Amino acid sequence: LSAQKEGYRFFMEKEIYEQADVLADTLRGRVLDTGIEFDELDENLFDGISEIKLCACGTSYHAALTSSYLFERLAKIKSSVEIASEFRYKEPLLTKDTLFLAISQSGETADTLEALKMAKQAGLKTLSICNVDNSSIVRLSDASILTRAGIEKGVASTKAFATQVAVLWMLSLYVAQFKKSLDTKELQNELHTLREVPNVTVIKDAIHEKTKRLAKRYLHGHGFFFIGRDVFYPLALEGALKLKEISYLHAEGYPAGEMKHGPIALADPELFTIALLSENLLFEKTKSNMEELGARDSTICCVSSYMYDKADDFIVLPKCNHYMLEFYEMMTATQLLAMEIAIKLENDVDMPRNLAKSVTVE
Ligand code: G6P
Repeated sequence: LSAQKEGYRFFMEKEIYEQADVLADTLRGRVLDTGIEFDELDENLFDGISEIKLCACGTSYHAALTSSYLFERLAKIKSSVEIASEFRYKEPLLTKDTLFLAISQSGETADTLEALKMAKQAGLKTLSICNVDNSSIVRLSDASILTRAGIEKGVASTKAFATQVAVLWMLSLYVAQFKKSLDTKELQNELHTLREVPNVTVIKDAIHEKTKRLAKRYLHGHGFFFIGRDVFYPLALEGALKLKEISYLHAEGYPAGEMKHGPIALADPELFTIALLSENLLFEKTKSNMEELGARDSTICCVSSYMYDKADDFIVLPKCNHYMLEFYEMMTATQLLAMEIAIKLENDVDMPRNLAKSVTVE
């Protein structure tokens, strides 16, 4: 088994490092000069559709939540996101102008599969985004797009998430083309940015080293807040999930602007705040949320290309000119931080306690 790890300490580490390559596969043949193309999709898929309902569990849910910002911003299409285990029993009102979009790495998660069956029974068009061809969810949905992440062994999902977000971003542009919601220049800018994603996802030694150094202190944290706004809020949820899955430390993801409505009461120097500070989106707003936390003595680690002088610690990212590139830079930084903390705690990073790679029972 260790041979397959190709020198990496854990599959999770190997999979974090593979992300740039698998993302290039995800984009291949889909990001063309003039637009997005999905061979898998029928041109009429979005005819009569005025809303997208995304449904998933765990990390896939975070990818879905990320894309809900993109669908509304870029494609100007209403989108809602559901946790599959909730959706199943909430007696949802479903109308046929809604496309049901299931997201699942494995394609076998019981709750997501059952939610998909419900949508089908209600007569909705269904689409899935999966990493495993011929999986149950792929077979059941009307159409599906494969993420091409390759087999993911680490229980804590990394490269599957990276590729799900890429497919969803491309899909939002695909819908934007259909709905003509972006002008040529805006679409070109998005396509250009997408092509940069594999480059910015290559792991930089300096950043990995920095997370190793931070891990030595952060493993003593009483608790962690990951905060961000807009797409960085789902990324904060995902960063917190990664950390709790493999380190067993208490971590919560929060929308930065929501901290003042309760969670800030927990702030003290032993509480580490991992702040995802974008320079391209809601910079001032997020910075002022960080200031509020700093004023209450939380220890702040600023994950950003901006050197925020009031932060206690930094993970400094290369500058870039699009918030989704910052998203991918922050994604790898928070994955590495979670992994390094878990390794320092001598946990089995690939097989964390109580968790399964795929949950095929309710
Ligand atoms: C399990 C895994 C998670 C995963 C979730 C959903 O809980 O441990 O990593 O995100 O299932 O899995 P899916 O295969 O549907 O994406």
